[in-house]
Amino acid sequence: MNRVFSGIQPTGSLHLGNYLGALKRFVEMQDDYGCIYCIVDLHAITMPYDPAELRASTREVTAGFLAAGLDPSRCIVFNQSQCTMHMRLAWMLSCLTPLGWLNRMTQFKEKAGKKRDNASLGLYGYPVLQAADIIGYHATHVPVGEDQKQHLELARDIAGTFNHQFGVEYFPLPEPVITGEATRVMSLRDGTKKMSKSDESDYSRINLTDDRDTIAKKFRKARTDSEPGVTYDAENRPEASNLITIYAALADSTRQQVVDQFASAQFSDFKKQLTELAVEKLGPVGEEMKRLSADPGHVDGVLRDGAERANQIAEPIQRDVEEIMGFLVP
Ligand code: AMP
Ligand code: TRP
Repeated sequence: MNRVFSGIQPTGSLHLGNYLGALKRFVEMQDDYGCIYCIVDLHAITMPYDPAELRASTREVTAGFLAAGLDPSRCIVFNQSQCTMHMRLAWMLSCLTPLGWLNRMTQFKEKAGKKRDNASLGLYGYPVLQAADIIGYHATHVPVGEDQKQHLELARDIAGTFNHQFGVEYFPLPEPVITGEATRVMSLRDGTKKMSKSDESDYSRINLTDDRDTIAKKFRKARTDSEPGVTYDAENRPEASNLITIYAALADSTRQQVVDQFASAQFSDFKKQLTELAVEKLGPVGEEMKRLSADPGHVDGVLRDGAERANQIAEPIQRDVEEIMGFLVP
């Protein structure tokens, strides 16, 4: 049986990278598989944070899921902290995970920065919690952006270790689904840096909540080079190539098709068309998010119902794991 699981952290607002790299994929898959989409609030507390902001952001990201087209009658949408399996299984898996594997995780190194001794144990163990998120539902497919590849490999290794150590064929090895044209959307200010929630410049990213004027202004100010035409060359024209990638993903076409379409255009004209396309595709998502933010009761209801359904899937798996591992489950 196929099952999809993926998650997004409720830290700051959703941006175009989240949308093209993850959310749009989530929506495309929702009818093909049993899908579970999670707002990973337990991951969000691995860095210093503010409780009121966490609560607000959990609702906002949920609103983003719904506004992008996830339908809670066709998939499960819930917040991670409301299903205890994640924490219980994460502890058990952490006892099977060698430190050497965690020491290789590049995201930990980036997030911990120079003051590694000040980073929390939770930040270090973050990929083990992510493995629990996935395998705790026997998920087989995990749609993510390029930056999560290493964490997915670790999840497979942990699932394999469990099976091997206890002599069972219990956990399926989850497959990353890193597809589409925009698996790594770059900053609008620097084509060598990933578009991210944590960049201090708001002009580096398009937020899903940006209104039409803001989207237009950000694309107008997006950095480009002095070459006049529309050509894709990720190495020598990283910013221009990023905009071509964004156009292709928004239009559901390919980079090559975009380059062909604009073969005789000036780059400035391409940018104008890109702005129009982005406003057309993202404007309604932002407006629906705004509408949902005025109705937190509805959003909370979706999460409550989703958590109930997530728990129904996770509880028997958690019980099996405890029996396999030798816990007395009276
Ligand atoms: P995060 O915001 O780190 O919780 O990421 C949520 C999802 O969005 C993950 O699947 C990421 O791989 C994806 N993602 C985040 N930033 C980008 C980006 N700049 N380009 C493509 N995908 C991204
Ligand atoms: N670590 C992921 C990120 O930062 C979020 C995440 C947590 C996730 N658990 C997951 C993604 C499980 C996929 C599956 O983007």
